[in-house]
Amino acid sequence: METYKEILAKNNQEHLLTYIENANEEQRKKLINQIENIDFEKLNKLYKISTEQKLISENKIEHINYTDKYKLSKNEYERLANIGKSIIENNQYAVVTMAGGQGTRLGHKGPKGTFLLNVCPKPMYLFEILATNLIKENEKYNVVLNWYIMTSTENDKQTEEFFKEHNYFNYPKENIKFFKQGNLPLIREDGKLIVDENYNIKYAADGNGCIYKAMREDGILQDMKSKGIKWIFIGSVDNALLNMVDPVLLGLTVNDGNKIGSKSIVKNSPHEKVGVFCKKNNVPTVIEYSELPEDMAEKTDDKGELLFGESHIMCNLYSIDALELISTKTLPYHSAHKKASYLMENGEIFEAKEPNAYKYEAFIFDGFNYFDEISILRGKREVDFAPIKNATGNDSPETAIKLYNNFHNCN
Ligand code: UTP
Repeated sequence: METYKEILAKNNQEHLLTYIENANEEQRKKLINQIENIDFEKLNKLYKISTEQKLISENKIEHINYTDKYKLSKNEYERLANIGKSIIENNQYAVVTMAGGQGTRLGHKGPKGTFLLNVCPKPMYLFEILATNLIKENEKYNVVLNWYIMTSTENDKQTEEFFKEHNYFNYPKENIKFFKQGNLPLIREDGKLIVDENYNIKYAADGNGCIYKAMREDGILQDMKSKGIKWIFIGSVDNALLNMVDPVLLGLTVNDGNKIGSKSIVKNSPHEKVGVFCKKNNVPTVIEYSELPEDMAEKTDDKGELLFGESHIMCNLYSIDALELISTKTLPYHSAHKKASYLMENGEIFEAKEPNAYKYEAFIFDGFNYFDEISILRGKREVDFAPIKNATGNDSPETAIKLYNNFHNCN
């Protein structure tokens, strides 16, 4: 077996020797153990992704069909809603919340779900908003939906503690299950691993696309199967208007004979910075705004509708078979340039003011590629989407509060 010194030398990480020298006995043991357990082959490959220029690949990008929820006839709406309703009432439907993200843009200390949103009539935590909505749905369908919450190594303890402290926001505790996604080391721009103030290698969550693997590895898929769950909604923690139980989306997906579905909203302008649904090389996917050529972003159909106008809002639906399938696949990693503070070799903390490190993430929508079709239901921004991403400006608590209060007729 290679010694840690050999591993560090081979992988151009010898700067870590200084930390090993400076750490106390306990920290040293932990740090060496972490080094010996890193998959450097994988890490070196990931670092290459961030430094090599992206090749513009030959992709065939095409429009994808969608159904507008608000243009369905009354009969069709009810027919689809009834299909969905019967699945929900039979307790074959479950909800998953992705709460493993770091929320760096918002800058809130602690898990994003613990952010208090100053809505009317009383301020509510993001987790509380979700719990309250689900409780209402339970009453509507006379069921207790199983609620799964994905956390990450960074925030799992705090998240579970928070739920306990708040008595699970009155959600039946036995119907909530937490599970934890994986993580990957952060890499500085110069390719070096970084260390935190406790002499631990600094890791970050491996992206919401790792949810599929985490659900398999943590026994969540097995748990769902044992409970007879057939359809699963996966949504984000940071949308104050998230509708987690939409029988029309469920009914549409079942009626179309598809295994996956998603709610979209139309872009507010051709160049809004959001990912949009399309077909790439004949399969459904989401294309980032940065990847969509300008002329394509502006193209409209004969009714004047944007051809690439359906934004992905992290409102996704899967059959259990679809989740089983994706969970066996290896999704690609994307690299993101992030701010990461760290312990310098001289023992001082470097506070990052600008992005200085790469984080590697799998994206949830890369899972769509394993299917030929997806049912897309176009919703409405003012009904379905109040994201909290930034501390101020667009998609901030301020904009989300306005949307939330308007929707709930409370000002
Ligand atoms: P974002 O991609 O917007 O990331 O997450 P974020 O962590 O909230 O914020 P930034 O980019 O650091 O500012 C969209 C959804 O995916 C979840 C988030 O918790 C949010 O619900 N997510 C993201 C995870 O569960 N795990 C991850 O590794 C990343």
